[in-house]
Amino acid sequence: MKLVQKTKISAAALALLSLSALSTGFLEVTPAFAKDTQQRPAVLNASAVAVADKYAADAAEQIFKEGGNAVDAAVAIAFSLAVTYPEAGNIGGGGFMTLYVNGKPYFLDYRERAPLAATRTMYLDDKGNVIPGKSLFGYDAVGVPGTVEGMWEAQKRFGKLPWKKVLAPAIAYARDGFVVDEQLAKRRDDAAKDFAGKTNFDEYFGNLKEGVTFKQPDLANVLTRIANQGAKDFYDGKTADLIAASMKGHGLITKRDLQEYKAVWRQPVEAKWNGYEIITAPPPSSGGVGLVQLLKMKAMLAPQFKDVPLNSPQYIHLIAEIEKRVFADRAQYLGDPDFYKVPVAQLTDDAYLAKRVAEVDPDKPSDTKSVQPGLGTSMPEKAETTHFSVVDKWGNAVSNTYTINGYFGSGVVVPGAGIVLNDEMDDFASKPGVPNMFGVVGSDANAIAPKKRPLSSMTPTILTKDGKVALVIGTPGGSRIFTSVFQVINNNYDFNMPLKEAVAAMRFHHQLLPPNTIFWEPYQPIDGELAKQVEAKGYVLKGQDFNGDIQAIRINGDTPDAVSDPRGRGVSRLIQ
Ligand code: GLY
Repeated sequence: MKLVQKTKISAAALALLSLSALSTGFLEVTPAFAKDTQQRPAVLNASAVAVADKYAADAAEQIFKEGGNAVDAAVAIAFSLAVTYPEAGNIGGGGFMTLYVNGKPYFLDYRERAPLAATRTMYLDDKGNVIPGKSLFGYDAVGVPGTVEGMWEAQKRFGKLPWKKVLAPAIAYARDGFVVDEQLAKRRDDAAKDFAGKTNFDEYFGNLKEGVTFKQPDLANVLTRIANQGAKDFYDGKTADLIAASMKGHGLITKRDLQEYKAVWRQPVEAKWNGYEIITAPPPSSGGVGLVQLLKMKAMLAPQFKDVPLNSPQYIHLIAEIEKRVFADRAQYLGDPDFYKVPVAQLTDDAYLAKRVAEVDPDKPSDTKSVQPGLGTSMPEKAETTHFSVVDKWGNAVSNTYTINGYFGSGVVVPGAGIVLNDEMDDFASKPGVPNMFGVVGSDANAIAPKKRPLSSMTPTILTKDGKVALVIGTPGGSRIFTSVFQVINNNYDFNMPLKEAVAAMRFHHQLLPPNTIFWEPYQPIDGELAKQVEAKGYVLKGQDFNGDIQAIRINGDTPDAVSDPRGRGVSRLIQ
């Protein structure tokens, strides 16, 4: 478990690292970097959070009251959600953190990686067909988790409080329990049906029912060890032993996989838009590239959008035309940048996007096959992830999306540890190199390889203006993530809707395949007259069975406005 630093480490920081390591020889007190956080005067009149549940909001409030900053609060939230939002919060998965600290942007990739023993064809049968469910349920579906390493690196680099303090709320929730709400109980019941007979899920979550106080003593012990020993426990200590033992005879992850896991500080995707600086997720997420393409193409199509009402049939058509091109690029070019050279600069270049925009047909859907590169994404992506947004009164911000992929991940719970393991391997292309329904070959960028990270759509995003944080935003939703973030930004800035309304407004989605299909959410279906008019334009309408869950904070002057999506059980809060 080592840190890979893609930006420069100063000589002083390196000296500190080696001196500290020499003098202590103990991971917990060995910072990976010199702390970049200095005490600065407050620039906002409150800190703020928008998070997926009230327990995490309480944890953040506690951390701020103890003098913590946005990174301390973010790490406390991540560990809390691993306990109280177990369907998506996690220590058995991975994610991305976009940060703005002391006026500088950062991005931390703690995405899961394929185990060393993974192979390109591991989910195919003898005839070369995908084995249904193998990348979704059980031990074979699990990627090497990155969340603990990610939180450790972020907090050590930028946090102000002792590591143990940020773990304390999560340990209390796991040890003393929390009250299960209706949404969580329903998600458990739905997931349990998928896992029945395949995993040990019910041994740990069989008693998770609405209204009960749910305790997780094994998980409390794991979190206590992580509090005492740092990430070392998870990757090279007792918890690593428990994970490796659970895999023996069932799955691919070994102790060596855990020992070799690396979080990576990467350059975020940065772009100028509408007077703002967008700071968002680079590959192995497709989300940041997709978001920038959407925002820029919409701005370039201003004449076509003039006087077109929000969410009208013509608006839905024009956005779908843009999305069609974004998803064509996604399928062809996006993957883990450590394995595949992703042309981020070209894909977000103004001249390139102007050419793409020129292909948009303002009157009718472009023929799907004509949209090149149009390899499509034939794999349905899991949508269940979770996001939180944090700002502190010093003007620092954290936008964090993390996931175990489907609700309750693979359904495997590590015996003796209570850790729900992800099914992130499903985000790889299980069958690359085989012609798809259009007779074209693709997805090699996202083929399975040992230590490779699967392609993601997570889009934790921060907008700044004149060096100050303006908006912090993200959501779960699989391939809907960046089209949802785009729509909320657009509602808020282009249509001047207050953030609360911008988040609550109807959202829709198109992704090249299935051809000319517009998806709507259960929260606000496209029906009635609107549906008839969209269909008359040549589209098929399809309801999806999940909603997004935007968590956003906009800064107005020196006051944060924090909003949690009415679609979820999230809580937003200002903390003095
Ligand atoms: N597993 C969902 C994503 O990474 O986008």
